[in-house]
Amino acid sequence: PVIYAVTPTYWRHVQKAELTRISQTLQLVPNVHWIVVEDSDYKTDLVRNLLTESDLIYTHLNAKTPPFEKLKDKDPRWKRHRGVEQRNTALKWLRENLKLGKDKGVVYFMDDDNTYNVRVFQEMNKIKTVGVWPVGLVGGLNAETPVLDKKTGKVMGYRSGWRPDRPFAIDMAGFAINLDLILSRTDAVFSYKMEKGYQESEFLSYFTTKEQLEPLADNCTKVYVWHTRTEKPVVNGIVPGLEV
Ligand code: UGA
Ligand code: MN
Repeated sequence: PVIYAVTPTYWRHVQKAELTRISQTLQLVPNVHWIVVEDSDYKTDLVRNLLTESDLIYTHLNAKTPPFEKLKDKDPRWKRHRGVEQRNTALKWLRENLKLGKDKGVVYFMDDDNTYNVRVFQEMNKIKTVGVWPVGLVGGLNAETPVLDKKTGKVMGYRSGWRPDRPFAIDMAGFAINLDLILSRTDAVFSYKMEKGYQESEFLSYFTTKEQLEPLADNCTKVYVWHTRTEKPVVNGIVPGLEV
């Protein structure tokens, strides 16, 4: 199966550094197709060059977040959904360019600022419907994780710093979905109408139930992805002639 890794990205000083880290992680992954969606009215040279030089199989798209939905500099991050427009654009591309039954794969929403162990991609190859695993450094906990029933090995709940009562209390980095499901449920999209912090839960509800989730990463005992966030650097001057 091909792993379709969907990465929304937007311009800020750390963008190239973030994308360099992600692209070099993906070079270590066999059979990956990177779908990079810029939050922009046009495709930038920075991202285009990075992709051309990456040797990866990729698709470069762009979709600007409408100004009304865009996070302002001083807004707290939770105030707005991030990545909605971009992930929907990637879903549209998948549904228009791949064929149900013919193309086999899994879809993973891979934010540009997280840290990924290549093992998380090996886990994805086992997915039949929806696979889930722990995510480190998120929700005010050292890690969030699905909680498994010792007898059945199935997911019975979640250890999550925020609203563990959500139908799926899982960060975007903590699941991947079989491409067949993505291609069959064409109505499944992200939406600004979803309650804040409920994007993952509401999106997963289109495809599966808690009982059907496939716990991976050694029965959710291993952390292979971290919800890291990069400090905003102080940049008081721009050296001309360098693309940073
Ligand atoms: C958490 C989750 O990890 C995200 O997957 C989820 O989209 C987000 O919450 C949410 O609730 O909307 P967080 O670290 O707070 O993520 O979000 P960011 O990393 O700032 O953004 C997620 C993705 O969207 C990143 O790939 C980022 O590059 C992209 N983004 C962010 C844009 O394309 N445009 C923006 O204006 C902001
Ligand atoms: Mn993030």
